[in-house]
Amino acid sequence: MLVSAKDMLNKAKAGKYAVGQFNINNLEWTKAVLLTAEEMKSPVILGVSEGAGKYMCGYKTVAAMVKNMIEELNITVPVALHLDHGSYEGAMKCIEAGFSSIMFDGSHYPIDENIAKTQELVKLCNEKGLSLEAEVGSIGGEEDGVIGTGEVADPKECKAIADLGVTMLAAGIGNIHGKYPENWQGLSFETLDAIQQLTGDVPLVLHGGTGIPEEMIKKAISLGVAKINVNTECQLTFAAATRKYIEEGKDLTGKGFDPRKLLAPGTDAIKATVKEKMELFGSVGKA
Ligand code: G3H
Ligand code: ZN
Repeated sequence: MLVSAKDMLNKAKAGKYAVGQFNINNLEWTKAVLLTAEEMKSPVILGVSEGAGKYMCGYKTVAAMVKNMIEELNITVPVALHLDHGSYEGAMKCIEAGFSSIMFDGSHYPIDENIAKTQELVKLCNEKGLSLEAEVGSIGGEEDGVIGTGEVADPKECKAIADLGVTMLAAGIGNIHGKYPENWQGLSFETLDAIQQLTGDVPLVLHGGTGIPEEMIKKAISLGVAKINVNTECQLTFAAATRKYIEEGKDLTGKGFDPRKLLAPGTDAIKATVKEKMELFGSVGKA
């Protein structure tokens, strides 16, 4: 069954490791992430952006698919189904659809409006036993139509949001969605440390997990990050494996054109990426 992300993230924060959020885009993606989490005995968060939710025929479809897959695949590890970068309206729809975790991305509002809307959702999520992620500052780059300016979060604004009782807090610390540019200046660990000093035990979230060097990931975890989001890297490895299959002409031999064969290399590539991240984040065996 689905669980909120609260317990798994509080355990991760206390244990100085991070739980991966892996964005899903279809049935094969979901199956790859779930089976890998079960194999690694790792808690896992399935992220669904508003664009992916629309692509997969709505949040109710996604919730029903995930719940049934957990049952069919005999998944025993904790799984949270999480709206990623949700609008206020999207958050309400996902609560109604049966998601177990919600991100309200209010980072583009003035802080007072972000606080007011987040406060409403804290109350609603608490009533329903759901976890809630909020965001301060913004994540640079573009994620499924969500454009971020990448401004670094103000630690005092982070405290104001954390004090509302959110489950987890995402803060812009120079992280970027998608591939990092050559001239990327790295993460602002000074800001991250200042944020964790003010927000105490609230698990912090690192967005834009694709392409961050391992030593930076480990340092971020040591400074309070307990959830790390990855999407682009799985998309890149899926595409590369699928391209290789086709360039080798395997779709032309026998029943190689069967979608269950055509999608298999990419699905295996996602599994390998998820496994590698769970090992890096330290969540293996923590279910
Ligand atoms: O919200 C999703 C993540 O922040 C994904 O970031 O595509 O750069 O791995 P990424
Ligand atoms: Zn993100």
